[in-house]
Amino acid sequence: MGKRKRSNYKVPRKRSFSNKKTYYTKEDIFISRMASILRVSKGEIKNIFSQRARTTIRVNGLKGDVNETVQLLKKRDLILIPIKWGPNIYFVDNKDKSEISQLEEYRQGRFYIQNLSSILATLVLNPQKDDTILDMCSAPGSKTTHIADITKNKAKILANELEVSRTNSLRNVTEQFGADSVKITLSDGRDFGKKYPDYFDRVLLDSPCSGEGRIYLRGQKPLRFWSIKKIKSLSFLQRDLIESAFITLKTGGTLLYSTCTLEPEENEGIVTYLLKKHSNAKLEEIKIVKSDGFEKFRNYIQKGITHWSGNDYHPDIEKSIRIIPSSEMMGFYIAKITKV
Ligand SMILES: C[S@@+](CC[C@H](N)C(=O)[O-])C[C@H]1O[C@@H](n2cnc3c(N)ncnc32)[C@H](O)[C@@H]1O
Repeated sequence: MGKRKRSNYKVPRKRSFSNKKTYYTKEDIFISRMASILRVSKGEIKNIFSQRARTTIRVNGLKGDVNETVQLLKKRDLILIPIKWGPNIYFVDNKDKSEISQLEEYRQGRFYIQNLSSILATLVLNPQKDDTILDMCSAPGSKTTHIADITKNKAKILANELEVSRTNSLRNVTEQFGADSVKITLSDGRDFGKKYPDYFDRVLLDSPCSGEGRIYLRGQKPLRFWSIKKIKSLSFLQRDLIESAFITLKTGGTLLYSTCTLEPEENEGIVTYLLKKHSNAKLEEIKIVKSDGFEKFRNYIQKGITHWSGNDYHPDIEKSIRIIPSSEMMGFYIAKITKV
């Protein structure tokens, strides 16, 4: 008899009564880990990661009048539910992403299809018209185009990306959505600290991550890109990126660190690393989630965690937020840091 081939992701588990070896699947490992991070039952984890977030759009003020766009979309029978805390942001109640991406108004760049958690990150960054802004890991450009929209193409925006193919989609997206104030660079974000020390008013580091916040367990091979090994290696890259991003900030500037993962090692661990290494890095409260109008969404928001799996994180880390995946927002992490 040939040897049984063992999948990379199956870890031997104790023998069952029949003395046959059983295995932990990759899904078992993911679910146990998430249950421990989110402190809920494994059954609850299955529910949390079996939801798809509602379609959300951001009406783009850089392509046409926003009120006119809303009227055009209503004429096409879209049911739009406004988000109180996000100007020009709507849930689309009766159509999915693939349907609305076929519309002429989408082709014209009049609206962008973007998850609410990702929209929140740019709102927390709070870009201003006279700012010089770095979007360090920017492709495909959801947040870059949002920054350009908020600042009405008046801010100086440098959108950087490491991968050539992704800079092409970034270029297409900035053109489609009229983000003319964006200059695109192809470079490793880790080099920016040396190239541009004390230069930017605001830096967005929407970091490469293990993407747990997007995992949909009912999909096909939902964990194909997920592994503990990947989490570890990403955490080294994220440390270098956050330090480089912080160095590029002017004193008084704001750094927004975000990921679409729920891993403490990629979130609280990275921010703690920065706070410990740079005494002039200060974590700020994220006020928007406490504002009126946000109450409906507050159930999905948790404070950054101070301890996990033998690791202690900076006590201020509770000011950062974790967004628990739901039918309205994808899983996300946001930390707002200033240079004092
Ligand atoms: C989470 S995605 C960014 C999404 C984007 N901010 C948006 O909202 O559309 C992370 C991006 O970082 C890029 N990236 C990975 N390593 C990088 C590095 N060392 N320097 C710059 N960009 C990097 C990836 O190619 C990817 O496009």
